Amino acid sequence: MARHLITSALPYINGIKHLGNMVGSMLPADVYARYLRQRGHDVLYICATDEHGTPAELAAKEQGLPVAEFCAQAHDAQKAVYDGFALAFDYFGRSSSPQNVEITQHFARKLHENGFIEERAIRQVYSPADHRFLPDRYVEGTCPHCGYDKARGDQCENCTRVLDPTDLLNPRSAISGSTDLEVRETKHLFLLQSKLQHEVEAWVARHEDDWPQLASSIARKWLNEGLHDRAITRDLDWGVPVPADTWPELAAEGKVFYVWFDAPIEYIGATKEWADQDPENRDWKSWWYEADDTVRYTEFMAKDNVPFHTVMFPATELGVREPWKKVDYVKAFNWLTYYGGKFSTSQKRGVFTDQALEILPADYWRYFLIANAPESDDSSFTWEHFTATVNKDLADTLGNFVNRVLSFSKKRFGEEVPAGGAPGEAEARLGEEIARLLAEYEQQMEALQFRKAAAALRALWSAGNSYLEEKAPWLEIKTDKDGAALTLRTAMNLIHLYAVVSEPFIPATSAAMRAAFRLADDAATWVTEDEAKSLASVPAGTPFTVPPVLFAKLTDDDLADYKERFGGEPQ
Ligand code: MF3
Ligand code: ZN
Repeated sequence: MARHLITSALPYINGIKHLGNMVGSMLPADVYARYLRQRGHDVLYICATDEHGTPAELAAKEQGLPVAEFCAQAHDAQKAVYDGFALAFDYFGRSSSPQNVEITQHFARKLHENGFIEERAIRQVYSPADHRFLPDRYVEGTCPHCGYDKARGDQCENCTRVLDPTDLLNPRSAISGSTDLEVRETKHLFLLQSKLQHEVEAWVARHEDDWPQLASSIARKWLNEGLHDRAITRDLDWGVPVPADTWPELAAEGKVFYVWFDAPIEYIGATKEWADQDPENRDWKSWWYEADDTVRYTEFMAKDNVPFHTVMFPATELGVREPWKKVDYVKAFNWLTYYGGKFSTSQKRGVFTDQALEILPADYWRYFLIANAPESDDSSFTWEHFTATVNKDLADTLGNFVNRVLSFSKKRFGEEVPAGGAPGEAEARLGEEIARLLAEYEQQMEALQFRKAAAALRALWSAGNSYLEEKAPWLEIKTDKDGAALTLRTAMNLIHLYAVVSEPFIPATSAAMRAAFRLADDAATWVTEDEAKSLASVPAGTPFTVPPVLFAKLTDDDLADYKERFGGEPQ
């Protein structure tokens, strides 16, 4: 069996994420990881909070907390939500960990030794009142183009023009408000990506045919525009320090690495964190260093992250001149919109992951989001679509099937899977259909086509309903008791099969379905083609219980409540 290394883009530390963020990275990664684990692969799924940079400093300041404390709390808050979503990370780390500091500094030293890092002097705004250089976005003032008086030094939010801090009229410090600003010369480290252009191009060329079009086209676009040398250090208090052994002067000035330099390295850093907390994981490096062909590395991210993962991080890894594992497959997502508009963290529009869990259990969200993942295009979240999908697919097609079959059988045959009857033509046809749909489901999962995989799963659930309607055991029982027993036993086998194969999507519900049967030995992690065809894994005589309703039906009142609470109008 192959070894699968899986990472999802590291959620930024500055606040609880919205559903758009979840569906474009962590959730599909989790679904894929769960699927591969079930199929017997060795899986390592790593994620972490991305904790450095200006927005973290600003968020901490807003809450009046030291940034380290803010990040520690915000990490735990995000982790709690991800636990609520049943994201089964092997490890959820922190980019501010000592492990990441160590590896990031190591990467920088190696890039330097190999001639890919250079010190350059640049001119930057300094604020004597704040005793520090100000990053572009910490300088505020009046936009020279439109006159907006809260324009930031990197961009004017009002007219969207890109700015240089020195363009601003009446500039002031966003930290203290001080207008006593000067421009000083200061040194920064530059990563000479231009020198790595050809190598990155050759590397991308070897992979792009395997990648989905969304990923390869973005990578191509960046390469065609040419890789530019870029500053990889900043004047911030919070970040991975520039190592003093290599750059004593910059270290003394308190320079730290730019957040986008250390964040992807945290994929490796978090793997080491995972290893350091349990001696059993001592072999962590085998996933990353001189990893052989048995390790397949898949990354999940939204499309704005693609340039960093297909071009810049690989450039860094190539420049280090050590055999660190590079990504094999980049699964990129478009945007999930909220009624066609943007989910916005700053404007608090849309549904946040913590709010979602207050309303309904994770499985409702997991299924809906993956079934409507923005894969080939953007997709829009609306409460109408959400409630309709929950009612139709989860409550009717799956939940009602399970409850109907088990309650009816209990009522007529007692609390054991009924004996009697021999599979006939209808069961043979059903078995063929189930085996065909299961193969389709597997194929789509292997291809990371999540919407299509969800459609195949839904079709598996529907096939059970069709069979039940066709056999109508509630009528059959009047004339042919053995026939009805056969029908119910077959349907119960479908329930068990659903429990196994639905697990990547709806793990809690799957566990409840599986727990309905007291099988002597239920170690099934997947269903073989033969098992799908014969539908006889749960034998007559197996005790069962009727689980509580698996999915509540959402009412018009619920819909109205959600829309009122979150705002449900097209933007
Ligand atoms: N925090 C970034 C974002 O939210 C993603 C970082 S991905 C990493 O867009 F690989 F760089 F960590
Ligand atoms: Zn402007």
